[in-house]
Amino acid sequence: MVKKLNFKNPPNHLAIIMDGNGRWAEKRNLDRIEGHIEGIRSLRTVTAAAIEYGIKYLTVYAFSSENWQRPKAEVASLMRLLEEYLNLELPFLIKNKIRLNFMGNIEKLSKNSKKTLLNVTGRTKKFGSLCLTLALSYGSREEILTAALRMAKDVKNNKINIKDADENLFSSYLYSKDMPDPDFLIRTSGERRISNFMLYQIAYSEIYFTKTLWPDFGKKELIRALRDYEKRVRRFGKTQD
Ligand code: IPE
Ligand code: IPE
Ligand code: MG
Repeated sequence: MVKKLNFKNPPNHLAIIMDGNGRWAEKRNLDRIEGHIEGIRSLRTVTAAAIEYGIKYLTVYAFSSENWQRPKAEVASLMRLLEEYLNLELPFLIKNKIRLNFMGNIEKLSKNSKKTLLNVTGRTKKFGSLCLTLALSYGSREEILTAALRMAKDVKNNKINIKDADENLFSSYLYSKDMPDPDFLIRTSGERRISNFMLYQIAYSEIYFTKTLWPDFGKKELIRALRDYEKRVRRFGKTQD
């Protein structure tokens, strides 16, 4: 019998900057898109493992606001892949009761990608075994600026009183309003930067960098990262006791 792995205190919310698809492909003399295709496999593996290990929220950086500046052909391939992923994944999401969510400026997506995305989020919105959020056309600075402008407008229109403006109220204007802050943030591919990802929400997240490229990131790597997380002592600015 295979022994079931147990994590005493798994992160409630795991966030991942899935980086290194292009380098994975280039190392093999393949087109960069092949790396993105392999990256989707990793996402599938990690999604299934997240449910197994008791993680409730999984948020993945799939496409940043800045990624629109990549060559047109790569952007087009990524958008095509997104639609394929969503259509192919729907039965898996339904079977495993996964709610698909997104954050980002989806107005920039093509009409079809947006339609497919809204169809999948709509059809899975009642599920609760795992909330899988795709950060798509997402940039944290844009998110924060938009939130600040919307809040200012609500003050001006007397919808809220400026005296009530606190961190909780501000958070309710962010894309992440319905989820807790990430407990654990993983970035693959060896880069040690945040690249405009959830800057407000990761104030107290534990961070883990690995050199592994995202297409090579599987269950074994996830377990290694979660074991590392288990050892962390989170203080949130307080003393340990
Ligand atoms: C991450 O892989 C996926 C996206 C940004 C869409 P990259 O495409 O950034 O791969 P590298 O970093 O160039 O290897
Ligand atoms: C961050 O990766 C965005 C995603 C993983 C979707 P990038 O490859 O775009 O980040 P930089 O350019 O190396 O900082
Ligand atoms: Mg990259």
